[in-house]
Amino acid sequence: MLLVTTIVLWASLSHASGYSKQFPPGFKFGAATAAYQVEGAWNVSDKGECKWDRLTHRYPDLFLNHDNGDNACKSYYYWRRDIEMASELGLQFYRFSISWPRLLPTGLVDEISDDGKNYYNNLIDGLLEKGIEPVVSIYHWEMPQLLQDLGGWANPKIADWFADYARVVFTLFGDRVKIWLTINEPIVECDYYYGQAILAPQLDYYVGPYMCNKNLLLSHARAYRVYDEEFRHKYHGKVSIVNHLLWLKAYSSEYEEEAEVARQFLTGRYAHPIYSKKGGWPSVVEKTVAKASKKQGFRESRLPAFTEEEIELVRGTYDFFAMNHYTSRLVRTAEPDEDVVKTLFTYVPDADLVLDTDPAWTYGYSEAMPIYPQGLREQLEWVRKHYGDMDIFIAENGYSSGGSNLDDDARISFIRSYLDEVLLAIEEGINVTAYTYWSLMDNFEWTSGYGTKFGLYEVDFTDPHRKRTARKSARYYADLIQNRSLAV
Ligand code: NOJ
Repeated sequence: MLLVTTIVLWASLSHASGYSKQFPPGFKFGAATAAYQVEGAWNVSDKGECKWDRLTHRYPDLFLNHDNGDNACKSYYYWRRDIEMASELGLQFYRFSISWPRLLPTGLVDEISDDGKNYYNNLIDGLLEKGIEPVVSIYHWEMPQLLQDLGGWANPKIADWFADYARVVFTLFGDRVKIWLTINEPIVECDYYYGQAILAPQLDYYVGPYMCNKNLLLSHARAYRVYDEEFRHKYHGKVSIVNHLLWLKAYSSEYEEEAEVARQFLTGRYAHPIYSKKGGWPSVVEKTVAKASKKQGFRESRLPAFTEEEIELVRGTYDFFAMNHYTSRLVRTAEPDEDVVKTLFTYVPDADLVLDTDPAWTYGYSEAMPIYPQGLREQLEWVRKHYGDMDIFIAENGYSSGGSNLDDDARISFIRSYLDEVLLAIEEGINVTAYTYWSLMDNFEWTSGYGTKFGLYEVDFTDPHRKRTARKSARYYADLIQNRSLAV
């Protein structure tokens, strides 16, 4: 049984002496949101139901204060204000997602919503008018309920559905959108939602997450190939997938091997098939699951095999590496095994090791998130070591607070300390090309509802117009972007 425990510290800002460092030319700053978390208008016009509409309505007890995304920030109505905020900040890009069932009410391509299409066209055009590049996530967990009812990512047909959906999106918006993120945080989508009692049929063994894992990778790959074959020659954009990179640090050097196994289960399972030279599952994952399955009396491994064709289909389906990074964990274990994944979502931290944490954010874990900026650089080094040199797009990083404080100095320190590690990584020759703050504004933080606030802008959820007010961190970020330096 693997023990993963909470990590050290609010790494001091000390080593970052003298914040005079400039960001290299071409480095881009942005902020992000996602459809379900901000749009609201859940049943307006012909929008189809998404799995979060269903879940929040059917099981309100799962959500803090019975919150849901029915109205959220009402960005469906106030998108002009969102663009204005992005512009006030001086963002070079704004990352948002398309709600699959807002664009395709049934999830399938036989019906395209005019209102859905108009909404995203307006948003994209409005951003471009202000000189802000739209960075679009094709899927940030907004599975159409009609497809979820057919199994969602557990149904192999999802690869056809997703590729068809992606083709529509590229056709409609590809002339103006040049950076595409196919799927956000597959590990959360698969390992959390298909592996926990919340949604899955409470399987005794880890099965759902692996089915989801494989089908999701095939879906991503199919979408990438659609772009590559049908759109790249005329639109010249770039496509990748966004992984959730929780850095797993060895508790001490004697646990390095164990930590590496854990990393392969957590990150390698989603990244190795795409970014490694060889493709396919990481071999340690394959071996570990096969061994465990045999021991459990199964004739086959619970990890579904890839065929040779599938390995080739998935391998190399990226134009850059995209990652979300928030936090780190320490790993110490006597015997590494696949339990790492479950452990990560349910672990009890070792309080002695927590020197500082993000107080408000638990993200489904049992305790607050450790803040360990250096983990970002260590993670970046790991990515380079395993998958080689490539452009790295940090697609999310952010700090949450519980209360509605406008003077959010802790958020400012957080951003500064993580960006300092980005600069150090760049000095080491790692090609980080972009940083995205999560989030542009407070929004529906999944099971934590509206209680957990990540925004550079505060949103008043009691106001029918969802007034947005800049926090101190918004001014800090704007200055930083303008000066392209941490000396602000
Ligand atoms: C990652 C997810 O992509 C986003 O939806 C979520 O709100 C943030 N992390 C913060 O938990």
